[in-house]
Amino acid sequence: MPHDYQSLISSNKAWAKKKKLQDSEYFNKLSLKQTPQFLYIGCSDSRMPLDTFTATEPGELFVHRNIANQVSLTDINFLSVLDYAVNVLKVKHIIVCGHYGCGGVSAAYDGKSSGLVANWISPIRDLSIEHEAELNAIESEELRLNRLSELNVLRQVENIYKTHVIQRALEKCHMDFQIHGWVLDLSTGHIIELEIPDSLKNK
Ligand code: CO
Repeated sequence: MPHDYQSLISSNKAWAKKKKLQDSEYFNKLSLKQTPQFLYIGCSDSRMPLDTFTATEPGELFVHRNIANQVSLTDINFLSVLDYAVNVLKVKHIIVCGHYGCGGVSAAYDGKSSGLVANWISPIRDLSIEHEAELNAIESEELRLNRLSELNVLRQVENIYKTHVIQRALEKCHMDFQIHGWVLDLSTGHIIELEIPDSLKNK
């Protein structure tokens, strides 16, 4: 059932009450500090709340989301999230998570979007042209777009390795965290772990 605006407020009250009944100290502990082990970089798509899919609680995921889960090397917003996650929170895992049926990926593939969104997703358009032969060999359009969603995640993992934050960690041999690429299959609710080729890591 879709929620109306007022039900967001009433649901919040009910949720907070339930949490407090389960553990009277829950909000006292939660308000003290955060010690997340994971940085989640995901798509803004409303179907992509990773805490629901991984049954994690508030305080476990540090989050950055944008259209089509881009790791942009000129995005000061993303870069500061990464810096803080690695150097202050010292997360143990960085996860780029895309999804099948991504509107940003299909719009980039079709080349029909316009305005700022077209600008934002243009790296995926370039990626689809780069992998034209592989994509064209896939007959079903749905599977072709699924593959492009996977390639998009792998490209963003590659971009993470190119950031100053990760390069500095590699130089100092301080890379005590792992970088993962995931795709969420919304038709099953399952996470697919992508294999990260070593060639993406040695930048
Ligand atoms: Co998406």
